[in-house]
Amino acid sequence: FHVDWDLVTAEKAGFDHFMLKEIHEQPQAYRDTMMGRISEDGKSVDLKEVEMTDEQIKAISKIHIVACGTAYHAGLVGKTVIESLARIPVETDVASEYRYRSPIITPDTLVIVVSQSGETADTLAALREAKRNDARVLAITNVVGSSIARDADDVITTWAGPEIAVASTKAYSSQLIAFYLLGLYLAQVRGTKTQDEITEVIDAMKQLPEQVERILEQSDIYKQVAEAVSKHSNLFFIGRGLDFAVAQEGSLKLKEISYIHSEAYPAGELKHGTLALIEEGIPVISLVTQEELYEKTLSNIKEVKARGAHVLAIANAGSEAEVGRSVDELFAIPKTLPILTPALSVVPLQLLSYHASLALGHDVDKPRNLAKSVTVE
Ligand code: G6P
Repeated sequence: FHVDWDLVTAEKAGFDHFMLKEIHEQPQAYRDTMMGRISEDGKSVDLKEVEMTDEQIKAISKIHIVACGTAYHAGLVGKTVIESLARIPVETDVASEYRYRSPIITPDTLVIVVSQSGETADTLAALREAKRNDARVLAITNVVGSSIARDADDVITTWAGPEIAVASTKAYSSQLIAFYLLGLYLAQVRGTKTQDEITEVIDAMKQLPEQVERILEQSDIYKQVAEAVSKHSNLFFIGRGLDFAVAQEGSLKLKEISYIHSEAYPAGELKHGTLALIEEGIPVISLVTQEELYEKTLSNIKEVKARGAHVLAIANAGSEAEVGRSVDELFAIPKTLPILTPALSVVPLQLLSYHASLALGHDVDKPRNLAKSVTVE
Protein backbone atom coordinates (compact mmCIF):
# COMPACT_ATOMS: atom_id res chain seq x y z
CA PHE A 1 0.00 0.00 0.00
CA HIS A 2 1.52 3.27 -1.11
CA VAL A 3 0.13 6.78 -0.94
CA ASP A 4 1.57 9.58 -3.08
CA TRP A 5 1.72 12.36 -0.63
CA ASP A 6 3.71 15.48 -0.28
CA LEU A 7 3.56 18.18 2.27
CA VAL A 8 2.63 20.97 -0.14
CA THR A 9 -0.35 19.06 -1.54
CA ALA A 10 -1.48 18.24 1.96
CA GLU A 11 -1.23 21.85 3.04
CA LYS A 12 -3.40 22.98 0.15
CA ALA A 13 -6.23 20.96 1.65
CA GLY A 14 -7.68 19.90 -1.69
CA PHE A 15 -7.40 23.30 -3.37
CA ASP A 16 -5.28 23.69 -6.49
CA HIS A 17 -3.43 26.69 -5.11
CA PHE A 18 -2.72 28.32 -1.79
CA MET A 19 -4.36 31.49 -3.05
CA LEU A 20 -7.67 29.74 -3.67
CA LYS A 21 -7.46 28.01 -0.30
CA GLU A 22 -6.78 31.33 1.40
CA ILE A 23 -9.66 33.04 -0.41
CA HIS A 24 -11.92 30.28 0.92
CA GLU A 25 -10.54 30.67 4.43
CA GLN A 26 -11.84 34.21 4.71
CA PRO A 27 -15.11 33.41 6.49
CA GLN A 28 -13.12 31.62 9.19
CA ALA A 29 -10.51 34.37 9.31
CA TYR A 30 -13.30 36.93 9.90
CA ARG A 31 -14.80 34.82 12.68
CA ASP A 32 -11.43 34.28 14.33
CA THR A 33 -10.48 37.96 14.11
CA MET A 34 -13.78 38.98 15.73
CA MET A 35 -13.74 36.23 18.32
CA GLY A 36 -13.40 37.39 21.91
CA ARG A 37 -13.42 41.03 20.79
CA ILE A 38 -17.17 41.55 20.72
CA SER A 39 -19.08 41.45 24.00
CA GLU A 40 -21.52 38.58 24.47
CA ASP A 41 -24.51 40.90 24.33
CA GLY A 42 -23.22 42.18 20.97
CA LYS A 43 -23.24 45.77 22.15
CA SER A 44 -19.58 46.66 22.42
CA VAL A 45 -16.07 45.94 21.25
CA ASP A 46 -13.41 45.05 23.74
CA LEU A 47 -9.81 45.28 22.57
CA LYS A 48 -7.88 44.08 25.59
CA GLU A 49 -4.64 44.14 23.63
CA VAL A 50 -4.94 47.90 23.19
CA GLU A 51 -3.39 49.17 26.38
CA MET A 52 -4.03 52.84 25.77
CA THR A 53 -6.03 54.40 28.58
CA ASP A 54 -9.31 56.16 27.84
CA GLU A 55 -7.52 59.44 28.50
CA GLN A 56 -4.85 58.60 25.95
CA ILE A 57 -7.50 57.63 23.40
CA LYS A 58 -9.39 60.85 23.99
CA ALA A 59 -6.19 62.82 23.55
CA ILE A 60 -5.41 61.46 20.06
CA SER A 61 -5.44 64.44 17.71
CA LYS A 62 -4.70 62.61 14.48
CA ILE A 63 -3.86 59.19 13.12
CA HIS A 64 -1.30 58.16 10.52
CA ILE A 65 -1.79 54.76 8.92
CA VAL A 66 1.38 53.48 7.29
CA ALA A 67 1.88 50.27 5.30
CA CYS A 68 3.00 48.76 1.99
CA GLY A 69 1.23 46.98 -0.86
CA THR A 70 -2.01 45.30 0.01
CA ALA A 71 -1.75 46.34 3.67
CA TYR A 72 -1.64 49.96 2.45
CA HIS A 73 -4.89 49.35 0.62
CA ALA A 74 -6.42 48.06 3.84
CA GLY A 75 -5.20 51.30 5.40
CA LEU A 76 -7.10 53.31 2.79
CA VAL A 77 -10.30 51.62 3.96
CA GLY A 78 -9.15 52.07 7.57
CA LYS A 79 -8.97 55.84 7.07
CA THR A 80 -12.62 56.10 6.07
CA VAL A 81 -13.68 53.65 8.78
CA ILE A 82 -11.95 55.51 11.60
CA GLU A 83 -12.91 58.95 10.34
CA SER A 84 -16.55 58.02 10.03
CA LEU A 85 -16.84 56.08 13.28
CA ALA A 86 -14.49 57.96 15.59
CA ARG A 87 -14.23 61.35 13.84
CA ILE A 88 -10.44 61.50 14.18
CA PRO A 89 -8.54 62.88 11.16
CA VAL A 90 -6.55 60.11 9.44
CA GLU A 91 -3.87 60.13 6.76
CA THR A 92 -2.81 56.92 5.06
CA ASP A 93 0.69 56.69 3.60
CA VAL A 94 2.81 54.21 1.74
CA ALA A 95 5.66 53.39 4.17
CA SER A 96 8.44 54.04 1.65
CA GLU A 97 7.11 57.58 1.15
CA TYR A 98 6.15 58.34 4.74
CA ARG A 99 9.50 58.67 6.35
CA TYR A 100 11.02 60.72 3.55
CA ARG A 101 8.32 63.35 3.52
CA SER A 102 9.10 64.60 7.02
CA PRO A 103 5.66 63.78 8.38
CA ILE A 104 4.34 65.91 11.22
CA ILE A 105 4.31 63.41 14.08
CA THR A 106 3.43 64.78 17.50
CA PRO A 107 3.11 62.93 20.82
CA ASP A 108 -0.68 62.97 20.40
CA THR A 109 -0.45 61.32 16.97
CA LEU A 110 -1.37 57.65 16.88
CA VAL A 111 0.61 55.83 14.19
CA ILE A 112 -0.99 52.62 12.97
CA VAL A 113 1.29 50.29 11.02
CA VAL A 114 -0.34 47.48 9.07
CA SER A 115 1.64 44.44 7.99
CA GLN A 116 0.69 40.86 7.30
CA SER A 117 4.21 39.56 7.93
CA GLY A 118 5.24 42.11 10.52
CA GLU A 119 8.65 42.16 8.85
CA THR A 120 8.40 44.62 5.94
CA ALA A 121 11.49 46.82 6.09
CA ASP A 122 9.84 50.10 5.11
CA THR A 123 6.94 49.61 7.50
CA LEU A 124 9.31 48.76 10.33
CA ALA A 125 11.35 51.87 9.56
CA ALA A 126 8.16 53.97 9.64
CA LEU A 127 7.34 52.52 13.04
CA ARG A 128 10.79 53.53 14.31
CA GLU A 129 10.41 57.01 12.87
CA ALA A 130 7.11 57.33 14.74
CA LYS A 131 8.68 56.15 17.99
CA ARG A 132 11.58 58.57 17.57
CA ASN A 133 8.97 61.32 17.53
CA ASP A 134 7.30 59.99 20.69
CA ALA A 135 4.12 58.88 18.97
CA ARG A 136 2.27 55.82 20.18
CA VAL A 137 2.36 52.98 17.66
CA LEU A 138 -0.39 50.44 17.16
CA ALA A 139 0.33 47.51 14.88
CA ILE A 140 -2.18 45.43 12.95
CA THR A 141 -0.31 42.28 12.01
CA ASN A 142 -0.89 38.63 11.24
CA VAL A 143 2.30 37.31 12.82
CA VAL A 144 2.55 37.10 16.58
CA GLY A 145 6.08 37.89 17.75
CA SER A 146 7.12 39.52 14.45
CA SER A 147 9.52 42.49 14.53
CA ILE A 148 6.64 44.94 14.08
CA ALA A 149 4.55 43.22 16.76
CA ARG A 150 7.49 43.37 19.17
CA ASP A 151 8.32 47.02 18.60
CA ALA A 152 4.77 48.44 18.64
CA ASP A 153 3.09 49.69 21.82
CA ASP A 154 -0.21 47.97 21.05
CA VAL A 155 -0.87 45.07 18.71
CA ILE A 156 -4.10 43.91 17.14
CA THR A 157 -3.46 40.47 15.71
CA THR A 158 -5.44 39.43 12.67
CA TRP A 159 -6.19 35.77 13.16
CA ALA A 160 -6.09 34.92 9.45
CA GLY A 161 -3.61 32.08 9.93
CA PRO A 162 -0.51 31.57 7.76
CA GLU A 163 -0.75 33.14 4.32
CA ILE A 164 1.46 31.39 1.77
CA ALA A 165 0.38 32.79 -1.62
CA VAL A 166 2.33 35.92 -2.52
CA ALA A 167 -0.89 37.72 -3.45
CA SER A 168 -2.50 38.62 -0.16
CA THR A 169 -6.20 37.86 0.28
CA LYS A 170 -7.32 36.73 3.72
CA ALA A 171 -4.71 38.93 5.42
CA TYR A 172 -6.13 42.01 3.67
CA SER A 173 -9.74 41.24 4.51
CA SER A 174 -8.87 40.40 8.12
CA GLN A 175 -7.08 43.75 8.35
CA LEU A 176 -10.40 45.33 7.37
CA ILE A 177 -12.08 43.49 10.24
CA ALA A 178 -9.36 44.78 12.59
CA PHE A 179 -10.07 48.34 11.40
CA TYR A 180 -13.80 47.92 11.98
CA LEU A 181 -13.14 46.69 15.52
CA LEU A 182 -10.68 49.48 16.20
CA GLY A 183 -12.98 52.13 14.72
CA LEU A 184 -15.82 50.97 16.93
CA TYR A 185 -13.58 50.81 19.99
CA LEU A 186 -12.34 54.37 19.46
CA ALA A 187 -15.94 55.50 18.86
CA GLN A 188 -17.06 53.93 22.13
CA VAL A 189 -14.34 55.63 24.15
CA ARG A 190 -14.74 59.00 22.45
CA GLY A 191 -18.52 58.85 22.41
CA THR A 192 -18.84 59.62 18.73
CA LYS A 193 -21.53 57.01 17.99
CA THR A 194 -24.72 56.14 19.83
CA GLN A 195 -25.25 52.71 21.32
CA ASP A 196 -27.77 51.93 18.58
CA GLU A 197 -25.30 52.86 15.87
CA ILE A 198 -22.58 50.70 17.44
CA THR A 199 -24.94 47.74 17.82
CA GLU A 200 -26.01 48.11 14.21
CA VAL A 201 -22.43 47.87 12.94
CA ILE A 202 -21.64 44.90 15.20
CA ASP A 203 -24.78 43.06 14.08
CA ALA A 204 -23.85 43.58 10.44
CA MET A 205 -20.25 42.50 11.07
CA LYS A 206 -21.45 39.20 12.46
CA GLN A 207 -23.21 38.50 9.14
CA LEU A 208 -20.05 39.00 7.08
CA PRO A 209 -18.60 35.46 7.30
CA GLU A 210 -21.79 33.89 6.04
CA GLN A 211 -22.12 36.56 3.35
CA VAL A 212 -18.60 35.79 2.09
CA GLU A 213 -19.58 32.12 1.97
CA ARG A 214 -22.44 33.06 -0.34
CA ILE A 215 -20.08 34.90 -2.68
CA LEU A 216 -17.70 31.92 -2.71
CA GLU A 217 -20.53 29.59 -3.72
CA GLN A 218 -20.72 31.55 -6.97
CA SER A 219 -17.03 31.24 -7.73
CA ASP A 220 -17.78 29.86 -11.22
CA ILE A 221 -19.33 33.02 -12.55
CA TYR A 222 -16.09 34.86 -11.84
CA LYS A 223 -14.18 32.20 -13.71
CA GLN A 224 -16.11 33.00 -16.88
CA VAL A 225 -15.54 36.75 -16.55
CA ALA A 226 -11.88 36.17 -15.80
CA GLU A 227 -11.43 34.21 -18.97
CA ALA A 228 -12.89 37.06 -21.00
CA VAL A 229 -10.85 39.66 -19.11
CA SER A 230 -7.62 37.69 -19.58
CA LYS A 231 -7.78 38.33 -23.33
CA HIS A 232 -7.23 42.04 -22.77
CA SER A 233 -3.95 43.76 -22.08
CA ASN A 234 -5.38 46.84 -20.40
CA LEU A 235 -8.30 47.53 -18.16
CA PHE A 236 -9.66 49.87 -15.55
CA PHE A 237 -11.18 49.58 -12.12
CA ILE A 238 -13.33 52.51 -11.07
CA GLY A 239 -15.25 53.50 -7.96
CA ARG A 240 -15.86 56.33 -5.52
CA GLY A 241 -15.19 56.51 -1.80
CA LEU A 242 -14.68 53.07 -0.28
CA ASP A 243 -15.34 51.58 -3.69
CA PHE A 244 -12.25 53.39 -4.97
CA ALA A 245 -10.18 52.00 -2.09
CA VAL A 246 -11.27 48.46 -3.00
CA ALA A 247 -10.75 49.18 -6.71
CA GLN A 248 -7.08 49.85 -5.94
CA GLU A 249 -6.72 46.49 -4.25
CA GLY A 250 -8.55 44.76 -7.11
CA SER A 251 -6.21 46.33 -9.63
CA LEU A 252 -3.10 45.38 -7.65
CA LYS A 253 -4.32 41.79 -7.29
CA LEU A 254 -4.82 41.49 -11.03
CA LYS A 255 -1.42 43.00 -11.85
CA GLU A 256 0.42 40.82 -9.35
CA ILE A 257 -0.69 37.45 -10.66
CA SER A 258 -2.05 37.91 -14.19
CA TYR A 259 0.51 40.54 -15.33
CA ILE A 260 -2.36 42.38 -17.07
CA HIS A 261 -1.96 46.11 -16.90
CA SER A 262 -4.76 47.82 -15.05
CA GLU A 263 -5.38 51.09 -13.33
CA ALA A 264 -7.71 51.97 -10.53
CA TYR A 265 -9.30 55.36 -10.89
CA PRO A 266 -11.66 57.43 -8.78
CA ALA A 267 -14.68 57.34 -11.08
CA GLY A 268 -15.17 61.10 -11.03
CA GLU A 269 -11.58 61.80 -12.03
CA LEU A 270 -11.65 59.92 -15.33
CA LYS A 271 -12.74 62.90 -17.33
CA HIS A 272 -9.64 64.78 -16.23
CA GLY A 273 -7.40 62.78 -18.51
CA THR A 274 -7.76 59.04 -18.35
CA LEU A 275 -10.96 58.99 -20.37
CA ALA A 276 -8.65 59.43 -23.38
CA LEU A 277 -7.59 55.81 -22.93
CA ILE A 278 -11.09 54.37 -23.11
CA GLU A 279 -11.61 52.68 -26.45
CA GLU A 280 -13.97 50.15 -27.96
CA GLY A 281 -14.22 46.96 -25.94
CA ILE A 282 -11.92 47.88 -23.04
CA PRO A 283 -13.16 46.25 -19.82
CA VAL A 284 -14.02 48.66 -17.00
CA ILE A 285 -14.72 46.98 -13.70
CA SER A 286 -16.80 49.33 -11.64
CA LEU A 287 -17.64 49.03 -7.99
CA VAL A 288 -21.04 50.48 -7.24
CA THR A 289 -21.84 49.67 -3.62
CA GLN A 290 -21.98 53.04 -1.89
CA GLU A 291 -25.61 54.08 -2.09
CA GLU A 292 -24.96 57.77 -1.49
CA LEU A 293 -22.72 57.79 -4.54
CA TYR A 294 -24.76 55.60 -6.90
CA GLU A 295 -26.00 58.36 -9.08
CA LYS A 296 -22.59 59.95 -9.45
CA THR A 297 -20.85 56.67 -10.27
CA LEU A 298 -23.58 55.71 -12.73
CA SER A 299 -23.07 58.94 -14.59
CA ASN A 300 -19.32 58.13 -14.84
CA ILE A 301 -20.21 54.68 -16.10
CA LYS A 302 -22.27 56.29 -18.85
CA GLU A 303 -19.21 58.33 -19.83
CA VAL A 304 -17.08 55.24 -20.38
CA LYS A 305 -19.89 53.28 -22.03
CA ALA A 306 -20.44 56.08 -24.49
CA ARG A 307 -16.82 55.53 -25.57
CA GLY A 308 -17.27 51.82 -26.10
CA ALA A 309 -16.13 50.37 -22.76
CA HIS A 310 -17.49 47.03 -21.65
CA VAL A 311 -18.65 47.69 -18.10
CA LEU A 312 -18.77 45.01 -15.44
CA ALA A 313 -20.22 46.08 -12.12
CA ILE A 314 -19.93 44.74 -8.60
CA ALA A 315 -23.08 45.98 -6.89
CA ASN A 316 -25.33 45.24 -3.95
CA ALA A 317 -28.04 42.63 -4.21
CA GLY A 318 -31.27 44.57 -4.63
CA SER A 319 -29.69 47.28 -6.76
CA GLU A 320 -29.92 45.27 -9.99
CA ALA A 321 -32.73 47.37 -11.41
CA GLU A 322 -31.04 50.65 -10.68
CA VAL A 323 -27.43 49.77 -11.52
CA GLY A 324 -28.07 46.90 -13.94
CA ARG A 325 -29.54 48.99 -16.70
CA SER A 326 -26.41 51.15 -16.98
CA VAL A 327 -23.85 48.34 -17.20
CA ASP A 328 -23.13 45.33 -19.43
CA GLU A 329 -22.78 42.73 -16.68
CA LEU A 330 -23.65 42.92 -13.01
CA PHE A 331 -22.38 40.76 -10.18
CA ALA A 332 -24.39 41.13 -7.03
CA ILE A 333 -22.90 40.80 -3.56
CA PRO A 334 -24.96 40.44 -0.37
CA LYS A 335 -26.16 43.69 1.13
CA THR A 336 -24.44 45.05 4.22
CA LEU A 337 -23.79 48.50 5.69
CA PRO A 338 -21.92 50.76 3.24
CA ILE A 339 -18.92 50.97 5.57
CA LEU A 340 -18.59 47.17 5.71
CA THR A 341 -18.95 46.56 1.99
CA PRO A 342 -15.18 46.34 1.28
CA ALA A 343 -15.08 43.10 3.31
CA LEU A 344 -17.42 41.62 0.69
CA SER A 345 -16.69 43.45 -2.55
CA VAL A 346 -13.02 42.50 -2.54
CA VAL A 347 -13.85 38.79 -2.75
CA PRO A 348 -15.14 38.78 -6.37
CA LEU A 349 -12.05 40.78 -7.34
CA GLN A 350 -9.76 38.19 -5.72
CA LEU A 351 -11.56 35.40 -7.59
CA LEU A 352 -11.34 37.34 -10.82
CA SER A 353 -7.57 37.75 -10.51
CA TYR A 354 -7.10 34.14 -9.49
CA HIS A 355 -9.00 32.81 -12.49
CA ALA A 356 -7.37 35.30 -14.89
CA SER A 357 -3.93 34.16 -13.75
CA LEU A 358 -4.96 30.55 -14.17
CA ALA A 359 -6.41 31.18 -17.64
CA LEU A 360 -3.10 32.72 -18.69
CA GLY A 361 -1.11 29.81 -17.32
CA HIS A 362 0.86 31.77 -14.74
CA ASP A 363 2.23 30.57 -11.44
CA VAL A 364 -0.63 31.84 -9.26
CA ASP A 365 1.05 31.41 -5.89
CA LYS A 366 4.50 32.61 -6.91
CA PRO A 367 4.25 35.44 -9.43
CA ARG A 368 7.41 36.55 -11.19
CA ASN A 369 9.56 39.26 -9.59
CA LEU A 370 7.61 39.36 -6.33
CA ALA A 371 8.29 38.16 -2.81
CA LYS A 372 5.87 37.42 0.00
CA SER A 373 7.79 39.51 2.44
CA VAL A 374 10.13 42.37 1.55
CA THR A 375 12.66 42.70 4.34
CA VAL A 376 15.09 44.94 2.48
CA GLU A 377 14.54 48.51 1.45
C1 G6P B 1 4.97 42.33 -0.45
C2 G6P B 1 3.85 41.34 -0.75
C3 G6P B 1 2.49 42.03 -0.72
C4 G6P B 1 2.32 42.72 0.61
C5 G6P B 1 3.46 43.70 0.91
C6 G6P B 1 3.41 44.18 2.35
O1 G6P B 1 5.08 43.22 -1.51
O2 G6P B 1 4.06 40.74 -2.02
O3 G6P B 1 1.48 41.08 -0.90
O4 G6P B 1 1.10 43.42 0.63
O5 G6P B 1 4.72 43.05 0.76
O6 G6P B 1 3.63 43.10 3.19
P1 G6P B 1 3.25 43.05 4.70
O7 G6P B 1 3.74 41.72 5.18
O8 G6P B 1 3.95 44.19 5.36
O9 G6P B 1 1.77 43.19 4.80
